[in-house]
Amino acid sequence: MYKGLFVTGTDTGVGKTYVACAILRALRRYGMAAGVMKPVTTGDRNDARNLIAASGTTEPLNRVNPIFLKIPLAPMVSARFTGWPLDISPVWKIFSEFKKKYKFNVMEGVGGVLVPVNEKTSVLDMIKKSGLPALIVARPALGTINHTLLTVRELRRAKIQIAGIVLSDIKKTTLAEKTNPSVIHELTGLPVLELSPHGEINLKENPWLIQKQRS
Ligand SMILES: Nc1ncnc2c1ncn2[C@@H]1O[C@H](COP(=O)(O)OP(=O)(O)O)[C@@H](O)[C@H]1O
Ligand SMILES: [Mg+2]
Repeated sequence: MYKGLFVTGTDTGVGKTYVACAILRALRRYGMAAGVMKPVTTGDRNDARNLIAASGTTEPLNRVNPIFLKIPLAPMVSARFTGWPLDISPVWKIFSEFKKKYKFNVMEGVGGVLVPVNEKTSVLDMIKKSGLPALIVARPALGTINHTLLTVRELRRAKIQIAGIVLSDIKKTTLAEKTNPSVIHELTGLPVLELSPHGEINLKENPWLIQKQRS
């Protein structure tokens, strides 16, 4: 019935892991055991560890995060330092098992949608292949309208379903932060969730996050 979410964003450092963890905690409170993957990490594996802790999954780190590259760069570039092209097929083998095992799966991407994972695959391609609807995490401040609309345009061009947008760490102290949520909703027609600093997500107030999704 439920499929899950691919948590992507307008950039790195926008709150993808924070939001994914908040969703996983909310699902736990809801009594729903979710599968979780941060398929590719570079630099360190902290995102995967945080997702494991938030979800309470018993899956080992190597299944949640099958690909780890030491150099903290975009995966395609990081992999060049290892001397061989990045094979991401292990991700899809594990994800196909997770799809059977869990009725809801949360996958976190790396950076924004056009980040190159290897020479042939972008994050956008991974979202498409996952079959999951995308959840876009964006900064709340000035500049986010452009980044968010570019991300929405690219996802729509690839015919990827978009669940909605989360503006994370929104303090509403500036005029930009006060106006951005409604303007982004007006321009995209998508649900926009405002997540306050250290905020938690209530699935009853935001049923669109787990609603029945087109298969
Ligand atoms: N709603 C929030 N409240 C508090 N801190 C947040 C919130 N959203 C993001 N952050 C913080 O911002 C930083 C970047 O977030 P992170 O989730 O790691 O971004 P990404 O996964 O997109 O790289 C982290 O220190 C994270 O804890
Ligand atoms: Mg992250």
